[in-house]
Amino acid sequence: MKSGVSFRPSRREALPLSRSDRIAELSPPGGTSRAPKRYRAAIIGLGQIGNQFDDDPKRSVVWTHAGAYECVPEVELIAGADPDTNRLDRFLDRRNVRGGYQDYRQMLRDEAIDLLSVCSPTELHFSMVLDGARAGVKAIFCEKPLASTVEQGVAMVEACRSVGVVLAVNHTRRWESIYLEAKRLLNDGVIGRIESIAGCYPGKVFTMGTHLFDLMRYFGGEVESVSGREISPAESEPNVCGHLQFQAGAHGAILCGRDRANHIFELDLLGSRGRLRLSGDGTQLEIFRFEESPRYSRHRELVNTPFDSGGCMKENRLIEAVNDLVGCMNTGGTPACSGEDGLAALEIACALLESARTGSQLVHLRPNRKNEERTQWLTSPRSAS
Ligand SMILES: NC(=O)c1ccc[n+]([C@@H]2O[C@H](COP(=O)([O-])OP(=O)(O)OC[C@H]3O[C@@H](n4cnc5c(N)ncnc54)[C@H](O)[C@@H]3O)[C@@H](O)[C@H]2O)c1
Repeated sequence: MKSGVSFRPSRREALPLSRSDRIAELSPPGGTSRAPKRYRAAIIGLGQIGNQFDDDPKRSVVWTHAGAYECVPEVELIAGADPDTNRLDRFLDRRNVRGGYQDYRQMLRDEAIDLLSVCSPTELHFSMVLDGARAGVKAIFCEKPLASTVEQGVAMVEACRSVGVVLAVNHTRRWESIYLEAKRLLNDGVIGRIESIAGCYPGKVFTMGTHLFDLMRYFGGEVESVSGREISPAESEPNVCGHLQFQAGAHGAILCGRDRANHIFELDLLGSRGRLRLSGDGTQLEIFRFEESPRYSRHRELVNTPFDSGGCMKENRLIEAVNDLVGCMNTGGTPACSGEDGLAALEIACALLESARTGSQLVHLRPNRKNEERTQWLTSPRSAS
């Protein structure tokens, strides 16, 4: 999975490199350290996904916005903001950045920022994305879930669109090659018409569920209606399983764990001609085709079918995401996971919870439901994943 990764010389060659420093030195496939630094990046929120996940000794690829910016030659990481001075100092030291701010609004005023990451707790995404768009940045890379409510998400997408700011939401598997490969195989018709999609996530319908719903929609198209069921009383964030009806006719089953620490993320797509299974959270992709049964006349059975992966099984999704944003800034275009995509995933999560809390009634997702009152889901000030 990591064969496509190469290394470039350190920016801080005088300093001894820790293992996590070396992770941050991963460069994008095909990248060149001689490319001019065209875009100045800054990060709001210097916690786990903003800066610190790369210090986890078990994570072997870049896992933070800061690490990804360091790896993209056209980007220079110039500043970060966090009211927590320990985290701010860790960031400034670790990333060799000069611009540190406790007040992100001050950062937006003082720095000429092209590319802004919003990595704060979810309930702050709304005001920070709006402030970023007003400050004149070119692109915003917002963490998921996009916002706390659908109304906020709609306003964020519209605000960015109205001033021409590229908005991407970090449903990070959209930039991961195994999921792109699965999409290519589905487009090529290897399993025929998609009839059902079963998905499993570890729990926390907004923090983790939105990743799954985003992929189910990526593969199955727009969702027409949902019904949900809450499977355990949640201390901070609900665990919801349920059913999706896709506009194209397929249906979806959502399974949900009760403990976020039990990491499970799987998708199983059944089509008219076969089955595609993604297991091990992006480590295994299998194709099965219906072939004439050796055991039953007039029946077919699933047979595991080798396929050509095209040699593109690499995992550097955050770097790919930043490259995608750079491409959007260079030539226009829409990122692989746009604001609209993030909004759609959030809307599915809100609708599932609304259904779960009203006796599992069917909740319809209509194209224009922004005026409807949606569920306020955040009960905790912090939404750790
Ligand atoms: N895409 C993914 O796979 C992924 C993974 C983890 C987290 N996330 C998302 O990222 C966001 C942050 O999660 P986390 O786990 O990094 O949380 P975290 O608590 O580790 O980090 C959040 C940081 O934001 C800072 N912050 C709070 N108020 C601020 C303000 N006014 N200005 C600037 N910074 C402020 C906090 O001090 C903290 O350092 C959440 O929305 C979460 O859902 C996404």
